[in-house]
Amino acid sequence: MSDKQFAFEQLPDWVADQVIAWRRYLHQNPELSFQEHETAAFVEHTLREWKGLTISRPTPTSVVAILKGDQPGPVVAFRADMDALPIHEENVFEFASKSPGVMHACGHDGHTAMLLATARLLSEKRESLHGEIRFIFQHAEELPPGGAIELVKAGVLDGVDFVFGVHLASLLPVGQIGIRHGEMMASPDNFTIVIKGYGGHAGFPHKAVDVIAIGSQLVGHLQHIVSRLTDPLERLVVSVTQFTAGSSHNVIPDSATLKGTVRSFKSSVRKEVPDIIRKMSEGIAAVYGASVEVDFVYGYEPVINDEWLTNLVKEAAVELVGSDLVIATPPSMGGEDFSAYQQRVPGTFVNIGAGNEAEGIVFPHHHPKFTIDESSLVNGINLFLRVADKLLYK
Ligand code: NI
Repeated sequence: MSDKQFAFEQLPDWVADQVIAWRRYLHQNPELSFQEHETAAFVEHTLREWKGLTISRPTPTSVVAILKGDQPGPVVAFRADMDALPIHEENVFEFASKSPGVMHACGHDGHTAMLLATARLLSEKRESLHGEIRFIFQHAEELPPGGAIELVKAGVLDGVDFVFGVHLASLLPVGQIGIRHGEMMASPDNFTIVIKGYGGHAGFPHKAVDVIAIGSQLVGHLQHIVSRLTDPLERLVVSVTQFTAGSSHNVIPDSATLKGTVRSFKSSVRKEVPDIIRKMSEGIAAVYGASVEVDFVYGYEPVINDEWLTNLVKEAAVELVGSDLVIATPPSMGGEDFSAYQQRVPGTFVNIGAGNEAEGIVFPHHHPKFTIDESSLVNGINLFLRVADKLLYK
C-alpha cells in the first residue's frame, strides 16, 4: 500500500463551508427517532445531485447510497445516524432548533453532514475505486430497538466485508481522534420491578405490607450484584433510576415500581444478571409477604471493535493528525446501536474530537447546551476518505 497515491491530498474548496451549512440546516430541523422524514428526504435529495450513486430507502426514514467501482474489491459500509433527541435546546445561536422540545444534542447532525460530503467526494473518484462503498444514513439510533437492526434485517449489510462509523465527541478536544481496540461501549439493558404489597394506614404499619420499605431494601441489595455476585474483573453497572410509589403522608401504598438499567460487555455476565435480579426481588419480597413481577428487556449489543480494522483506522488517523493526537479511548458504559452491524460483519467505531474549552464547547452529549466545534467535521471527512483510500483505492 505504501507506493500508492492518496486520493485526496487536499480537500476541494467547497467542502469546509458546505459541510457546516448542511450541519446547521440539520441542526435547525431536528427530528426524533423513527420520525426522520424530512431529514431522510433532504439526504436523498442531496445525494441525487451527484453521479454514480444508487440510492434506496430501505425503511421509511433511512437512506442508503451505493457507489460501485468498475474494478473488483471489498465492500465497505460507512454509517451515519440522523436522529435527534427529545430535549429542549438552550443554545441561542441563529441555527438553533426550530422544533421546541427536539434537539440534535448528540452530534448526529454532524455525522449526517460528514457522510454526505464523503459520499460526494468519493463519487467524484469513482474511476479509481476498487470494490463498493455503501453510505448508510441510519434512522433511530437513540431509541431501542434502534434503526441499525432494522437496516441489517432489510439486507443493507448483505455482501458487506467491513463497517466503519464515527461519533463526534464533545468531551474530546477538537483535533484528537479516539481509537478503541475491543470492548468500546456496553449493552444497555433495562429492568422493571413491580412490588405488590398490602396498603393501609401509615399509623398501623404492622397491618400493611409496606412496598416502600421493601423497595428501599431491594435498591440496597441490587448494589451487591456488582460488588459481591459477579466477577470483579468484568465491567458491569446496575443502576436503579426510577422509584415510584405512594400519594400522601398517611397512606402506605399497595404497589411500588422500580426501574433501572444494567450495563455490561460479556454475554456470560449479561445473561446471569437478570436471574440474580429476579431471585433477589422474589426473596426480599417474600420475607415481608409481598409479591413481585420482574421484567427484563435486552437493549443493544455491546460495541466491540474488530482488531484488524481498528489497526487500519488507527494507521489512517495517525497519518492524518499525527500520533500525539490519536488517543486510546477508554471503554464507556453508554450504548450505541452500531453494534447491530458488528454482529454481522467486522467493524470499528471511532470518536472524533469536537470539544473546545476556549470556545465554551464543553457540554456533554444529551445536554440542552450541547454543541460541537465545527472544524471537527473536516477531520471526520478526512478520516472517512483515508480509510476508504486504504481499503478501496489503488
Ligand atoms: Ni449519538
